[in-house]
Amino acid sequence: MQKLVVGNLKMNLLTIAERDCYLEAFQRDFEKLSKNSVEIVLCPPFVHLEKFAEKLKMKNVFVGAQNIFWEDRGSYTGEVSSLMVKNVGSKYVILGHSERRKYFAENGEVVNAKLKAALQDNLIPIVCVGESQIERNDGETAKVIVQQIDQRLKDVPISKISEIVFAYEPIWAVGSDVIPTGDNILEVKITIRKMLVEKYGSSLAEKVKILYGGSVNSKNINQVCLDPQMDGVLVGRESLIPNEFLKIVEILNNHIA
Ligand code: PGA
Repeated sequence: MQKLVVGNLKMNLLTIAERDCYLEAFQRDFEKLSKNSVEIVLCPPFVHLEKFAEKLKMKNVFVGAQNIFWEDRGSYTGEVSSLMVKNVGSKYVILGHSERRKYFAENGEVVNAKLKAALQDNLIPIVCVGESQIERNDGETAKVIVQQIDQRLKDVPISKISEIVFAYEPIWAVGSDVIPTGDNILEVKITIRKMLVEKYGSSLAEKVKILYGGSVNSKNINQVCLDPQMDGVLVGRESLIPNEFLKIVEILNNHIA
């Protein structure tokens, strides 16, 4: 399976000058890669999607949104739909990120509605799941992950299941510089795969990509993603520095070689 490296730029790049500077640096550093066999997705704020899609035309490089609303159009002041982000060149969308669950009270039902909208409009959803520190301490990780995935997949057509990407992002590891052990990550990945096999059978379940996210950088990428079973990473802060982000890409490229 081709590995996927997603950069979540969050609410950054405040000016047009900053955006252009980022894009120039990314293009320059991308050209220095000896090759690129992973799929790269950059997810800037909505206002920069169109420009990112216009400028990032390199092979295996795509653009994604950080969120969408579940309706396609209408009287929903301040919202942005999946069709809108698709029509300005996005291929992916991050859904149910822990920061959205925390600050915007996005629960399983909301993420489920957004997931169905994204799939209907042929955007590839990157669905985030992950436990809190308390849940991990209480030994509840597997239970929480299974519950979250169950809620998010409610009434999702089976024909669309293999298009979904899951990102395991323990809440306590996002923005914290603390990461789980490689074994912890693998355990969760196996839990997710197993539940998908039980629900949909192995040939569908095996097509679903499962990423790790939370404080990933070029120094810990070996620990979080070099197991052949890991399908890639979701990177937050480090994706703001193209050179650092592309170091992660380079390491995964070399690993595949
Ligand atoms: P981080 O963020 O890499 O800065 O911890 C990860 C994420 O928000 O997806």
